[in-house]
Amino acid sequence: MHSSLSFEVEKIKLLKYIMSYLKGKLRLSMIVLVCVVTYSCKTKPSKEFNLEAVVSKTEKQLSYHYGIVEKYQEDNLLPRSIDEKGLVMVPSDDWTSGFFPGELWMMYDLTDNAIWKERAIKYTEYLESEQFNTGTHDVGFMMYCSYGHGYKTTGSSKYKDILIQTAKSLASRYNPTLKSIRSWDHSTSLYTFPVIIDNMMNMELLLWASQETGDPYYKNIAINHTNTTLKNHFRGDNSSYHVVDYSPEKGEIIKKVTNQGYADESAWSRGQAWGLYGFTVMYRATKDEAYLKQAERIAKFILSHKNLPEDKIPYWDFDAPKLPNEPRDASAAAIIASGLYELAGYSKNSIEYLEVADTMLKSLSTEKYLNKKGTKYGFLLSHSTGNWPRNSEIDEPIVYADYYYLEALNRKKRLNAITY
Ligand code: GLY
Repeated sequence: MHSSLSFEVEKIKLLKYIMSYLKGKLRLSMIVLVCVVTYSCKTKPSKEFNLEAVVSKTEKQLSYHYGIVEKYQEDNLLPRSIDEKGLVMVPSDDWTSGFFPGELWMMYDLTDNAIWKERAIKYTEYLESEQFNTGTHDVGFMMYCSYGHGYKTTGSSKYKDILIQTAKSLASRYNPTLKSIRSWDHSTSLYTFPVIIDNMMNMELLLWASQETGDPYYKNIAINHTNTTLKNHFRGDNSSYHVVDYSPEKGEIIKKVTNQGYADESAWSRGQAWGLYGFTVMYRATKDEAYLKQAERIAKFILSHKNLPEDKIPYWDFDAPKLPNEPRDASAAAIIASGLYELAGYSKNSIEYLEVADTMLKSLSTEKYLNKKGTKYGFLLSHSTGNWPRNSEIDEPIVYADYYYLEALNRKKRLNAITY
């Protein structure tokens, strides 16, 4: 452990003291909790990592990206990635549609520059009709990353109504026999009732909806879904299957397989990242220790894996066939880093989590990953892998890597914002 260990230990002690004090005095709102956690877990500013300089770089590149997106604009499309033909723009019903508006909201958070708010509002509202989309679990990603940020920033009652309607649409996919939310309606020749680990990311919208409406209906669905995932998605080593396919009639598991990983029994990196992040969010909202333990177990699987490279940016699958000559997945690293910054606030392993998240953020901010201004259509990060089995978006910039990278930078900035 490095020389700042005693400094870190003191911070953790302070965190525990403040938390136990507040528990007795106040009903903690999430905001207070995050403030306390970030205060107590603040890390020393790093010499090698100049957060302000990185934020300034990302702001310039996002401005360039925004200009390109505006230029390519037709039919309210949103940027997703790059392929052999150039910039890939997608309609609002694509699962990735919420990430670009989410980035614009986060850049507003990071810089306080009003231009980002204006831009965020414009692109968020491209997604309005998706509130009625009952055809995919991905409405959670789409709407909470866009309207969710917008609501937190503006308190708009219109955004609130849209989010509540979206929670209703998502909840309509819940099967009470299986106690699970169906992920996809596509690929019906392959699956009957597929539930993917990614679905843990949609719980946050349901938790938010119960908090806003006072109706426990949404939160209960999220808890049931999470408990089913906890029971069925994880292997003995706490890596997770990508897809668990169920029979709603029999209430049984049909099979456990992969869709985007290397093999049914392999550990697809982004899937592990979704699990880590999702169980952390569930612990935040419920304080159920089982969720904290699972998030810690997933973290242990990832951080102690022999195939996690020294720069902590995972290969696209921990069991990819030609390691180390395999593409990385910067998106998995960004999701894990952001998740670890939050998990550090709840876990006794804070020091380790903060150190690894910092290493990930530093690595992503080097020339190897962070694109030079004016390149790659303005995407922030290179080297993400979308869907290797389908030969799609391999070793390319992808919008969700940029989104979670900005979220991790934002969380890091808040950690640094309060002087110890
Ligand atoms: N949720 C789809 C993916 O992670 O690629």
